[in-house]
Amino acid sequence: MTKIAVFASGNGSNFQAVSDACRGGSIDGEIVLAVCDKPGAYVETRAEKSEVPLFSFAPKNFESKAAFEKKIVGKLKEHGVELIVLAGYMRLIGDTLLQAYENRILNIHPSLLPAFPGLDAVGQALAAGVKVTGVTVHLVDSGMDTGPILAQKPVTIEQKDTRDDVEAKIREVEHQLYPETVQQWIETIKESDERCLNER
Ligand code: GAR
Repeated sequence: MTKIAVFASGNGSNFQAVSDACRGGSIDGEIVLAVCDKPGAYVETRAEKSEVPLFSFAPKNFESKAAFEKKIVGKLKEHGVELIVLAGYMRLIGDTLLQAYENRILNIHPSLLPAFPGLDAVGQALAAGVKVTGVTVHLVDSGMDTGPILAQKPVTIEQKDTRDDVEAKIREVEHQLYPETVQQWIETIKESDERCLNER
């Protein structure tokens, strides 16, 4: 079973979806750590209810991104984490984490990337007047929502849709697409690890 850490900054509904999929067996993994950079965010309550250990920190208490990421990497190693799942973690990942977890950090974003990267992707889509937006799951690199795309699903925006309607449609797609893609990536990692072992 793959040991997973979920990073989040807010409500954590995607944390919940991944956690439920692990418990239900559709992800061959276990969330062994939740990481939150916004002390008090609702995801912390979700972690507590799910009995998942939590590392909560305030970036302002560290002198640099490298300093808090070093601390995070320490916690990840302590818990044997093999895969990082970003679930509304509203912060760019720095070199410290990228080097420690190469090809092992996934992110979900509420648009069809490369359209509408960054903050408030739904607001950006509504302002642009697009009729179709969607959800992307991708590998994380040093850019803003720029890593290789693993999965995408469209969401249509109807004339009558309010912002809340669009957000709700996006969430519904996210909660299905993220667990599915996490499981696929776990299988990909396993296959590539086995190939490496056989080549030795
Ligand atoms: C999700 O819609 C996720 O795609 C988005 O934050 C939301 C978190 O919701 N992430 C980004 O915008 C990353 N650039 P949640 O806290 O309910 O999971």
